[in-house]
Amino acid sequence: MLNLKIIIASTRPGRKAPSIAAWFTEIAKKHPEFNVEVLDLAVINLPFLDEPEHPRFQKYQHQHTKDWSATINAADAFVIVTSEYNYGYPATIKNAIDFLSKEWQYKAVGFVSYGGVSAGTRAVQMLKQVITAVGMMPISEAVHIPAFTKHIDESGKFMNDPGLDKSADIMLDELFKWATALKTMRG
Ligand SMILES: Cc1cc2nc3c(=O)[nH]c(=O)nc-3n(C[C@H](O)[C@H](O)[C@H](O)COP(=O)(O)O)c2cc1C
Repeated sequence: MLNLKIIIASTRPGRKAPSIAAWFTEIAKKHPEFNVEVLDLAVINLPFLDEPEHPRFQKYQHQHTKDWSATINAADAFVIVTSEYNYGYPATIKNAIDFLSKEWQYKAVGFVSYGGVSAGTRAVQMLKQVITAVGMMPISEAVHIPAFTKHIDESGKFMNDPGLDKSADIMLDELFKWATALKTMRG
């Protein structure tokens, strides 16, 4: 079994991310090879990067960084659930990534993105550039949800969709392959 952490990127009050993350998490928990944990950046509540040293030295001064480091260290793979803000990723996910360095290295990443016509794909393309700087491996299989609000019912539940459910399963299988291979690269 590998440890999959699902990171919820958006943090604003009234955000839709939890609906989408709950749908994806239910599918991920059925995957036989992953232990799944959700990391909600709104709950983790990191401040703007406030460590004086470069994270590669791991000389963290703050308890919130030490906790975040331990959480990310324990992961074998990630799925980042992200919205698209102004054609890019939410600043909260960039900040959460910048806090650490080695903890992310040689770990595979899949994406669940959502938005209007772009389905959040511009945010994902920008995120791929960032995550490779800390040695993460983005996989190309992904779940991109255009016009995502049509999938959310009046109670706020994201409704299952055969096409999206299948995309999620395909991504998880591929993520497991990459995560297994990359584990051998970590000391
Ligand atoms: C600051 C801001 C910028 C946005 N920019 C985009 C955008 O570039 N592309 C897009 O498809 N949707 C955009 N939207 C609409 C979002 O897709 C929509 O609000 C979505 O619910 C955001 O995710 P969240 O609710 O989890 O925060 C934007 C929303 C906000 C609040």
